[in-house]
Amino acid sequence: MTLENGKPLAPVLLGDAAHYETGFPHELFTDLRQRMPVCWSREADGPGFWSLLKYDDLAAAAKNPAVFSSATENGGHRLFDEQTAGVAGSGAESPIGIPFISRDPPKQAQQRLSVLAAVAPSRLGDMETRIRARVVTLFEQVQGDTVFDVVPALSAPIPIKTLAELLEAPPEYEPKLFEWTNALIGEDDPEFRRSPEYMAQIIGELMQFGSHLRASRLGGSGTDIITLISRDKDGAEVPLRDFYANLILVLVGGNETTRNSISGGLLALAQHPEQWQRLVDDPALIPGAVSEIVRWVSPVMHMRRTAMQDIEVRGQHIAKGDKVLLWYPSANRDEDIWEQPFTFDIGRGFKQRHLAFGIGQHTCLGSRVAELQLRVFLEELLRRYRHIELCGPVPRIRSNFIHGIKSLPMKFKASA
Ligand code: HEM
Repeated sequence: MTLENGKPLAPVLLGDAAHYETGFPHELFTDLRQRMPVCWSREADGPGFWSLLKYDDLAAAAKNPAVFSSATENGGHRLFDEQTAGVAGSGAESPIGIPFISRDPPKQAQQRLSVLAAVAPSRLGDMETRIRARVVTLFEQVQGDTVFDVVPALSAPIPIKTLAELLEAPPEYEPKLFEWTNALIGEDDPEFRRSPEYMAQIIGELMQFGSHLRASRLGGSGTDIITLISRDKDGAEVPLRDFYANLILVLVGGNETTRNSISGGLLALAQHPEQWQRLVDDPALIPGAVSEIVRWVSPVMHMRRTAMQDIEVRGQHIAKGDKVLLWYPSANRDEDIWEQPFTFDIGRGFKQRHLAFGIGQHTCLGSRVAELQLRVFLEELLRRYRHIELCGPVPRIRSNFIHGIKSLPMKFKASA
């Protein structure tokens, strides 16, 4: 094992997006998990960072925000430094402020709590009816017996339309919501992040969209997300900069992740025909399949924390100020937690929760909405089709952050 200043050194730059272009490199991470589960990686354009690869280490760090900070002033929740880089930079000059995912408690809770009402379990019943109606319409437009791209036909519009409902945004904005979020997470993908000018245009459009909707809702008592992120939980008006930041958080959080769970789930089912057949034979397995799909895909690859004090993890000395990455796909394949972690098993029966939605203070706010969409999607798919088939290559987003699929050519048949 190579050491750098006493730290076990990962053999490659783990932050390099090129490693994730053909899917998450599970072989590499399995090897690291066994040989150096807490390891140091060099960075092409930064000071380097620690990686936590084991389930227990990741969960312990995520539950300890006093030591493992998400706050922008300490660096934020992304690998790059949010004060100087990122969407538009979150520094004092930027028009985009700080989203609550980049705050530590108690400030984070102030804003998180106000959004909870939009995704409360009591609202999900009503939402299910509308999600199902939209999914049915999308399936009616699909010619399943000829090869089609699942991403624009199904996986992208389902979460976009759910988000439009949550924001109460006019439908003409739906294509923009897709384009904006791709650009926002696509800093390493030239197709998505075309140029600084293009990015400035995206941010301008987004701010115009947000300020227009906010102006129409201020003072109202609606439970749409625009109204909810305009005020904190005590009713105080949230500054416009932070409103924009939280709008971006919800758009990216609700869109990329769910889209890629739908695409990744279909891909997994096509690659594991025996699991698809189990679902065809027994649709009661769908809720378990939803959890297994999210564990299997783990569409968010990591979140970043910054150590607020010196701390030892699994014998490694993490120094105050060091960056620390929590790798969800690795925790979700941890051999010490999962029986046969590399088996895609829709009947797994989760004794242990998977960590794809995170854990602790920042646990995903939209997990139930995401699971609901996946469940309805699978129900409607199984109502119509007995056979699914992958029909071509699956290009991926160039990103170390989102485990994303750009295009998924498939065929569906009503008979087996
Ligand atoms: C399969 C789908 C999804 C996955 C895998 C996912 C994953 C995650 C993860 C890992 C975090 C934790 C961040 C951290 O610890 O730093 C998170 C937070 C968050 N997610 Fe999701 N997410 C999904 C769907 C959604 C949806 C549908 C929404 C909104 C409708 C959403 C909104 C959020 C928000 C607002 C946060 C920040 C919570 C906070 O900082 O308190 N997510 N998500």
